[in-house]
Amino acid sequence: MSVTVRKPVALGQTEWTATRFLSILDLSPAELETCLDLAARFKADRAAGRPHARPLTGRHVALLFEKPSLRTRSTFQIAVRELGGDTIEPPADVALGGRETVEDVARNLERWVHGAVVRTYAHACVERMASAAPRLRVVNALTDQEHPCQALADCLTLTERWGRLRGRTLAFVGDGNNVATSLAQAAVMLGAHVVIASPRGFELRDDVCADVRRSARTGGTLRLTTDPVDAVRRADAVYTDVWASMGQEEETAARRRVFAPYQVNGALMAHAPSGALFMHCLPAHRGDEVTDEVIDAPSSVVFDQSENRLHTQKALLALLA
Ligand code: CP
Ligand code: NVA
Repeated sequence: MSVTVRKPVALGQTEWTATRFLSILDLSPAELETCLDLAARFKADRAAGRPHARPLTGRHVALLFEKPSLRTRSTFQIAVRELGGDTIEPPADVALGGRETVEDVARNLERWVHGAVVRTYAHACVERMASAAPRLRVVNALTDQEHPCQALADCLTLTERWGRLRGRTLAFVGDGNNVATSLAQAAVMLGAHVVIASPRGFELRDDVCADVRRSARTGGTLRLTTDPVDAVRRADAVYTDVWASMGQEEETAARRRVFAPYQVNGALMAHAPSGALFMHCLPAHRGDEVTDEVIDAPSSVVFDQSENRLHTQKALLALLA
């Protein structure tokens, strides 16, 4: 059965009103579930070779990437094309390099394209673009603070395994970074218990924790610890990410020393319940934050997460259309 998408989208009792996606917190819990439902339908249609709605027909989306990307860039390119649209890719040094203000870049793009998918450093950059050009659908493709598109794919992956996240426990072991932030926002919003184990000084920020807890519904909780064993002990899934994110390369050696006790290896996974899933946004630094035996184990869902980037971003773009 094909999917028909209009705006606002009526799926069950749900209306979609979001016009930007800078953060998971731009969505209501119902909108987050709507996006995951539509992603699952797009995925099923694609697997069955069924045609689906092409709401971007005749429209362009700009991809502006100031940092490297395999998964995000590729899946947005495919997503736009499969929704009937096309992409443009102005060089990052032209669009985001200070040649003109990001507000003026956004005001130009708004006259030509439907949306802008932006990977940059300062989170304020995507906020400034979205404020300056309200008709431009700005999508955060990763900032230093948040990676909401990754969290959509992570939640779809877990939904496929568990039916729903509510009541499940998700452990994140490592840096309280952009991936941890968006994962906590999304999973707690869907009713999961999120436990984050980080070294002192690398925890999720207090204001992030406060926002996550405000968005909790039906029993979702967030707990921070410095003890990775404590974090994984009741975990249904264990997630990790690189110790030094893009832009922190100079800190790699120092971080390797601090984070060594937080490596997700066989010994740590032995403390988790049997059957606990392993998750990673990728790229992985094998031998640092995760060992081969864990990332290559049958319980690893890292390539499901990667595949689901495509389906969730198609849903997101269709809903923002
Ligand atoms: N997970 C992720 O965002 O991958 P890329 O950096 O390759 O886009
Ligand atoms: N935290 C990582 C995620 C990469 C997808 C980074 O920002 O580099």
